[in-house]
Amino acid sequence: MKARRCELSVPGSNMKMITKAAGLNVDEVLLDLEDSVAPEGRPEARQTIVRAARELDWQGKRLAWRINPVSSPYFYQDLIEVAEAAGDKLGAVIVPKVNRPEEAYTVAAILSAIETNKGFEQQIAIEVQIESAEGMNNVEKIAAVAPGRLEALIFGPGDYAASLGVPGLTIGGKVDGYPGHLWHYALSRIIVAARANGLEAIDGPYAAFKDPAGLEETTLQAKLLGCDGKWAIHPGQVEPIQQMFTPAQDELERAQRLVEAYRVSLAERKGAVRFEGEMIDAASVKMAERTLRRAGMNF
Ligand code: COA
Ligand code: MG
Repeated sequence: MKARRCELSVPGSNMKMITKAAGLNVDEVLLDLEDSVAPEGRPEARQTIVRAARELDWQGKRLAWRINPVSSPYFYQDLIEVAEAAGDKLGAVIVPKVNRPEEAYTVAAILSAIETNKGFEQQIAIEVQIESAEGMNNVEKIAAVAPGRLEALIFGPGDYAASLGVPGLTIGGKVDGYPGHLWHYALSRIIVAARANGLEAIDGPYAAFKDPAGLEETTLQAKLLGCDGKWAIHPGQVEPIQQMFTPAQDELERAQRLVEAYRVSLAERKGAVRFEGEMIDAASVKMAERTLRRAGMNF
């Protein structure tokens, strides 16, 4: 699977921003029909997304679109109109505010029918956003829906804060006075549910796009908990996020040395051995392999 270090959200109604996004160096761009597009603008935005998907050069990056929630009146046209007209150009659909597994199942069933009917060669992946108390309560069941098609769970910090009653006005931001990482439990739970089902785990956006230090702090927290990537809402956030989810060269070289040292130790019929002043065993190799996979390297 191609990396998802950064997913840049772009309003599906704004061709100028969409064109700019197509030229950026980012793993995934998502063209939004939900909260960044006013309800009256959604029918036109669907056509803008279709045009952008068909006509622009996306330079090999994964292109996704975000529909409105399954419970909304926009849902079926957001999904069907765009998938039928440009589903062969779109790698994934993002489903927001998923509260129950049936919602993800519904999207999967409709996509299957469209793909068969249209003769698309590639299937359209699903990524779901967990951004409510109910969604978090059901995250383990949601993560198990549509194996092979569901690829990622995404945290939605703004809607989640509102759903829980967490004070604060900055999406994905800190709340003054809280001593630790505000989203530790939510992100960890999403990551566990994702990994238990072989999915990727993606952190949501940080809305203060003029605050690079805040972005760095929240991105680092997500990375250290185990996330694969994070959303961006502004081009200025893309490079720092992509960079932070790319393993550093010295980290990579050490991981390669570790895997090699363990291979030698196994050949000598040893399980645990000394490596650069530490103990390594089979668990260390799994950690090293994850680092190498993040860099897209074979081992
Ligand atoms: N994708 C692509 N291009 C973007 C962009 C985005 N998300 N956000 C801004 N840009 C472009 C602007 O058009 C501008 O381009 P230009 O220099 O060619 O004129 C450039 O980047 C600089 O933008 P800037 O002036 O700093 O910001 P802005 O005031 O134009 O836009 C926002 C600010 C917040 C309105 C805008 O970033 C945005 O709409 N972000 C996405 C919102 C979204 O998707 N929300 C839903 C998910 S949470
Ligand atoms: Mg949301």
